[in-house]
Parts: sequence; structure tokens; C-alpha cells
Amino acid sequence: MARFSGLALLLPLSLLAQPVQITINTAQPGSKIDRNIFGQFAEHLGTGVYEGIWVGPDSKIPHTRGIRNDVVAALRALRVPNVRWPGGCFADEYHWRKGIGPLAQRPATLNPNWGGVIEPNTFGTHEFMDFIGQIGSRAYLSINIGSGTVAESADWLEYLTTAQPTALAKERAANGHPAPYEIPYLGIGNESWDCGGNMTPDFYLSQMKMYSRFVRNFNPAQQKENEMLKIAVGPNESNTEWTEAIMKAYQGRHWSWDMHGLSLHAYTVVKWPPAFASVGFGETEYAQVLKSTLVMEELVKKHSAIMDRYDPQKRVALVVDEWGAWYAKLPGSPEGFLVQQNSLRDAVLAALNINIFARHADRVRMANIAQMINVLQAMILTEKEKMLLTPTYHVFRMYVPFQDATFVPVSFDAGSYAQGDIRLPRVDAIAARDKAGKLWVPVTNLDPAKRLDLSFNLPGISAKGAAGETLTAPKVDSVNTFAAPETVVPRAANVRLQGGQIALQAPPKSVSVFSITE
Ligand code: AHR
Repeated sequence: MARFSGLALLLPLSLLAQPVQITINTAQPGSKIDRNIFGQFAEHLGTGVYEGIWVGPDSKIPHTRGIRNDVVAALRALRVPNVRWPGGCFADEYHWRKGIGPLAQRPATLNPNWGGVIEPNTFGTHEFMDFIGQIGSRAYLSINIGSGTVAESADWLEYLTTAQPTALAKERAANGHPAPYEIPYLGIGNESWDCGGNMTPDFYLSQMKMYSRFVRNFNPAQQKENEMLKIAVGPNESNTEWTEAIMKAYQGRHWSWDMHGLSLHAYTVVKWPPAFASVGFGETEYAQVLKSTLVMEELVKKHSAIMDRYDPQKRVALVVDEWGAWYAKLPGSPEGFLVQQNSLRDAVLAALNINIFARHADRVRMANIAQMINVLQAMILTEKEKMLLTPTYHVFRMYVPFQDATFVPVSFDAGSYAQGDIRLPRVDAIAARDKAGKLWVPVTNLDPAKRLDLSFNLPGISAKGAAGETLTAPKVDSVNTFAAPETVVPRAANVRLQGGQIALQAPPKSVSVFSITE
């Protein structure tokens, strides 16, 4: 576990110029870092789904059954473990029946949450399942408990999962999919304390229990070990009252309902409504945003402590199913489309959050960055037929080896850097062994001005070499654009064996990930 000693804050800078020693304690492995913490979120919002994923069967943009090929290829490289869909706030106004059947017969409806635009319903249940099949991912469905009914959601799950020849199964077959689908994760509502119906915890609980009871997964392959996991609406940021109420109910639960996860929504906004720019900012805003994102660690600890009281066995996962940076919309972009650029700052922010989730891997077993394409802190931006990969995408790609790896604690004392009256740790690092036993180390140098030399102690291990990648760029606000899509891309890390130790040169404002050969 990283330690940020108070003493280090007082050390003269000359001492900090020595290589920072990082000890990797491989003899004390921690929890498995669930691959689901690298989950994505695709809401019907702006061009996240329409254009970002779905271009339709008549598009000139290369596609497979209406789903764009460039986006699928890029996402396959991330090994996306799960995709949360169809919202967000949209989920509580989504009626699945409007999104099945022949495309030409699907009704146009409205998307009042997000710009009041037309929802064509051409990307519905089968298109979503096709999409996650194409990218090699799994479904995390968010059901409508706001404006929907228990019966509507129960029918949706029967339609999707039953292998028996019911009327709904026959309808699914007629729509092109005779075999039952697998639905591994079910979100019971979204932000029910706000856009999902402004419910009190008690009102939510009485609703949630009904959905938990009656919205069944009938897939024969999902009845035991592989059972569908139900995720209850959890707190907004630091609202511990909500966590208390749901976890207390969980502890005293009756056999007839269950939950396996409690969601947490915590964006990095600095102040609401989002006013910070996603482009054209300086080192002060860089530090303000990173300071704000590090609050995630406190939130995770706070909610985990409550969950530990009611669920000491840690059966219920803390599911951070909306996280990421939320900035002011790009000038000129439509209202309600949540369009923002994605800079080197976001890459650093992503690495810091992933490290927090990994440090709490015993409780945080799922997370979904908001959102996958063209919305908020996206992996991918598209403009008609063009597509680019964001700095955040590159971090997710560099962290692929951490999916289902075993956490390895590290200790170090790298001091802090100051920006005005903001003081931040200079370094963040974790380590993990992947499933094949290889040791991986991600190191983030938060300092926007100083290169850091790091040296790694590996008690009990004789390292033979190391190799990896570093993501950095000329400025904290460097971005990839359609004209210059490779401004922020990973390059070979300056990491090597030196005097029997692994040494890394971490450039200012960078994320490095490397593996060690033993
Ligand atoms: O991600 C955008 C919105 O943020 C989601 O729809 C909602 O759940 C949250 O408030």
C-alpha cells in the first residue's frame, strides 16, 4: 500500500532528487483485481450510441450489422469486461419493447433527459447484445424502475433469457435469436435518489425488493455459480445515509430478495454545475482536478466501512458504476450531449482511480467509467466516419494485464508537489501479478514539471529485466484531435535493469506500465 509520509513534505528538494525507492512486497499478495473494474458505460446520450456505436445497416461507414467496425476493433483491444446499458437517467425512461422487431417498424420516441432529441429505438436489445458480442464483452443491464413496472422488466428478462418455448422466447427467436442470452449483471434502477425518481431510501428499498424478487433470469446456464448478479442503487458520492439504509436492509434480508452489489456514483467535477474546461487549461486546473479525483479513495473507504459492518464477509461488491471527469461542455456542442475533450490530465486521473479501485479490490469488484464513446470521459471520439483514441483509452489499454491479476502491495515515500496551496502526492503506484504469474507495475508521476527517477526493490526476487510503455505529452492539456490523433500516445518506457535493480525514468505528468522479467 502506498504511504505518503508527512515527513517527506518537509524534506529539502535536494533529497527528493535521489531516486525514489519503491518496494514491491510480492510475499504479501492481496485480493484479485476483478476485471470488472475496467467496465464501460454506454448510455443513449448525445452521440454515445447513435454514431458512436450504431450507424445502421445502410451506412457507408464500414460496419457489421449496423455497428461500426473501427469502434469494435478499438474496444476489442481493451478486453472490455462489461458494458452498462441503456443508462443512466435514460434507463428509467426506457421501454424495451420499442427497441425490438424490424428496424423500420420501431417507433420514434423522445429522450427528455438528454437534449430532448428523438430516440429512434434502432439500437435496442438485439443490437446491444450483438455489440457486446462483437467486442467480446458482457451485459450489465440497467432496468427501468422509475417509469416502468415490475412486469415490464420481468418480461424483458424472460424475453432475453428463457430457453423454454414461451411466447416471449418465440418472439425473441422470430427477432433472430433462438438461443437464450446471458445477462450476468442487472442494475435495479439508476440514481433513484435523483433522476431515477427522487425516492427516499425506504421507498427505493420497497421497490428494489419487488424487482429483485420478480425480475428473474431463466437462462439454464445461469442458475448456480454463474447466477446473475443484482446491483442495487447505492449512494451519491458521500451520502452515507443511503448506504446505511440499504446495507441494513441487506443484513436483515428475507430469502425472497437479494443483491450482490451496491452502486456508487462519484464524478470528478470540482464544483457543480461542471465549469472546468476540458481543453486550454493550465497547471492550476490540472492540480485542482487531480485533488478532487483523489477524494475517490475517501469515498470508497467511507462506504466500505459501512458495508463491513453489515456484510463482514464482503459478499456485496461496491460497484462504482459511474465515475470519471465531468467538465463544461465543449463550446458549440449541443445542450445535453455532455461533449468534452480528453487530455493527458484525464489519463493521469484514470490511472489514479484504477489504482484506488485496485487497492480496495476486496470490496470494489466492478466499476464503469462514464462513458465509453463521445460522452464525458470517453475512450473514443468519433466525427462521422472518423475515429480517434483518447488518452484515457490508452491508459485502459495499458492496464489490460491487471484484469483479474492479484494485487501486490508496494511501499514508497516520494513526497509531494505543490501547486499554489494545493499539495498532491508526486507518485502513485501499485503492483500486481497477472494470471500467468508475471509481475506488472504501473507508476503515475503527477508532478507536471519534474522527471522522477525510481528504483524498485523486490525482496526475494532477482529481476532480469523490465519493459513497458509510458504515456505522456508536452502539456497537461495536450489532447488528440482528428487532425493530430497521436499527440498523446504510449511510447516505450525508459525502464531497465541497473546495478541489479529495476530503474524507471518517469517523465513529468506521465503514466507508465511495465512488466518485470524474473
Ligand atoms: O453519465 C451521465 C449521467 O450522470 C447519468 O445518466 C446519470 O446516472 C448521472 O447523473
